[in-house]
Amino acid sequence: MPITYQSETRTFQLDTAHTSYIFRVYKGNYLFHEYWGRRLRPVDLTRLFRTCPTGFSPNWAGSTAPDESLDLIPAEYPFYGTGDYRSPAVEAAFSDGSRLLDLKYVSHAILPAKPPLPGLPSLDGGDATLEVTLADPTTGLTVVVSYTVYEDSDVITRHARVVNTTDDIVRVSRALSASVDLPSMDYDLIGLYGAHLRERQVDRRPLRHGMQALESRRGASSHQMNPFLALAAPNADETAGEVYGATLIYSGNFLAAAEADGFCTTRMQIGLNPFDFSWKLEPGESFVTPEAVLTYSAEGLGRMSRNFHRVFREHLGRVKGTDRPNPIVINNWEATYFDFDEEKLKALIQSCRGLGIDTFVLDDGWFGHRDNDTTSLGDWFVHRGKLPDGLKPVIDCCRENGMKFGLWVEPEMVSEDSELYRAHPDWAIRQEGRPFCLGRNQLVLDLSRPEVVAYLKETIGRLLEENDISYIKWDMNRHITDQYSAGLPADRQPELLHRYMLGLYDLLGDLTSRFPQVVFEGCSGGGGRFDAGMLYYMPQTWTSDNSDAIERLKIQWGTSLVYPPRCMTAHVSAVPNHQIGRVTPFGTRGLVAMSASFGYELNPLSLSEEERAAIAEQTASYRSVSDLVAQGDFYRLASPFEGRAEAGADDAAWMFVSPDRGRAFMVYVLRLATPGAPARRIKLQGLDPQAVYHIDELDADFGGDELMFAGLATPYAMRDFEALSFTLTRKG
Ligand code: GLA
Repeated sequence: MPITYQSETRTFQLDTAHTSYIFRVYKGNYLFHEYWGRRLRPVDLTRLFRTCPTGFSPNWAGSTAPDESLDLIPAEYPFYGTGDYRSPAVEAAFSDGSRLLDLKYVSHAILPAKPPLPGLPSLDGGDATLEVTLADPTTGLTVVVSYTVYEDSDVITRHARVVNTTDDIVRVSRALSASVDLPSMDYDLIGLYGAHLRERQVDRRPLRHGMQALESRRGASSHQMNPFLALAAPNADETAGEVYGATLIYSGNFLAAAEADGFCTTRMQIGLNPFDFSWKLEPGESFVTPEAVLTYSAEGLGRMSRNFHRVFREHLGRVKGTDRPNPIVINNWEATYFDFDEEKLKALIQSCRGLGIDTFVLDDGWFGHRDNDTTSLGDWFVHRGKLPDGLKPVIDCCRENGMKFGLWVEPEMVSEDSELYRAHPDWAIRQEGRPFCLGRNQLVLDLSRPEVVAYLKETIGRLLEENDISYIKWDMNRHITDQYSAGLPADRQPELLHRYMLGLYDLLGDLTSRFPQVVFEGCSGGGGRFDAGMLYYMPQTWTSDNSDAIERLKIQWGTSLVYPPRCMTAHVSAVPNHQIGRVTPFGTRGLVAMSASFGYELNPLSLSEEERAAIAEQTASYRSVSDLVAQGDFYRLASPFEGRAEAGADDAAWMFVSPDRGRAFMVYVLRLATPGAPARRIKLQGLDPQAVYHIDELDADFGGDELMFAGLATPYAMRDFEALSFTLTRKG
């Protein structure tokens, strides 16, 4: 049984294959967190705790015992006003102005099946679910905290439901998905920060006393910070050491925080950002938080990532079960930008013949009178100046040349210069009578309004019904400002950004279920909304507008901490690179892009015959490893964040291994070459140490033990930005 309850000690134990998570109903009926770590047999852990009575930690109501203070106990779902001064998980206000809560255990249920989270994406399945009901005795407010165990991937998901079981109006101003109190602060905090063109850079630093918050306040999960945090033992690396990881299945404002207190213990939290948020609950109504995904690894960051990857591959919406690799795409954005017409597109499509590409994606500029980015968002009808006979001739041309057709849309946005905005100026997020901010010359549509969501279901649905479209690139090119909705009453304005996400999820749920054959790709100025909420509907995301292979080493490495490589789209683009001007070898661009969902972002018409032949070879070689990229286990071998140039190690390496360890695909990329540097040995991972592997590229056999424990030496005299790949097959 993955979840057990010991009634004598009132202890809950949640077990996965390698981990246990234990908490109990403590004195005073408070939930007390006892343990999260390597798997334990059923156990009474009370011996482990020795609360240290101290001044200024007040007793809970009704007690005078020196150690009976909520300030001292590790809490499961902390609250405000009754002595715990660390950050609460939940805060609520009542109509008499009181904000006090005292949440005590009432009951629990262990369910064989996990109930879905209404209106929110979440993992399906799970081996067992525990719901613990807590209530505030004075007001009667109820909070249900839920846990689902995914045994095989060592994952526990958590969320909470605040139920207004009072006769009063309740305003919830904070409702996090998970809070865990760890017994020490000897951890490094790891987060993924970034910017447009430089997403998900790994940031690791020792945890300090006080609050350390990673968050988004931008109305999207954002380029600037990813909804993820890990606490890792200072010595933890890719293969060893304790790591606690948490992410959120949510695409809007989030908070991921670690707070180390005066007793040197740590509260780790993740959930909806309480910043600019409150939610009004009428009697009988509930508020459900997004779902947090938690994992513990005793084998370093690599195992943490593989746990996330596995649970997403097996249980996350459209990511799951997609055993077939994603299509190889060619996108016209960097080939033409806004400057195209039917003839130009046809020539481009025809030139893809024989290259092994599956899908042609027509990017921005095909609608309204969109010749630049100042106009037409919202007008999802064809730009007759460029495409006088509509999309059909372009789609037909794709078919004739053996490809499917994909289309770019940005449905959440509106340009001031658009029929939609002229008809419905109040559909944009802004306040009437106040000057408003533009971002990339555009406004954000108010998806908290059901009529806007209904309009988009209809309009984008019609586009998909009337045209033979097999791929949608769904973009979102600015963050939200002017947070005001013409559709919400004054006291519900702080609900806007979460209602926006619920509206977006409703829209995406509707379109992806009505058009199951269409592959949806998420995008937000590149990788500005790379999160598990979006991946639930759109199983791949354009990882970054920065398509330079060397920049992508860091971006894709950071992204892989949480998300499976198959969920990242990566394209081979032209050189000099359009974003930073770097010139890298074609083969390097190919191998970096092949380590994700592969495609091209260039104009085949500008290529030499040699380069065309190289593309044909590249697509064929991607097909030979794409099952490994899609379903294999991912191992990071050499970090682009850590290289030492003088050791010949200004580089990056990673590999994919088939589930049966019979095949593997490894990529090594050198950044700047260093003269006189020693041979670089890369230790492989995930192989069978007893087996012998043949490496095609070297036409030689190696022991699995040799490759993993002694390593594979890279050749001398590699040049700047050169890359190598190694394809391994187990012999016998
Ligand atoms: C965003 C996307 C790009 C491209 C442009 C089009 O920046 O990330 O890939 O689609 O929009 O305007």
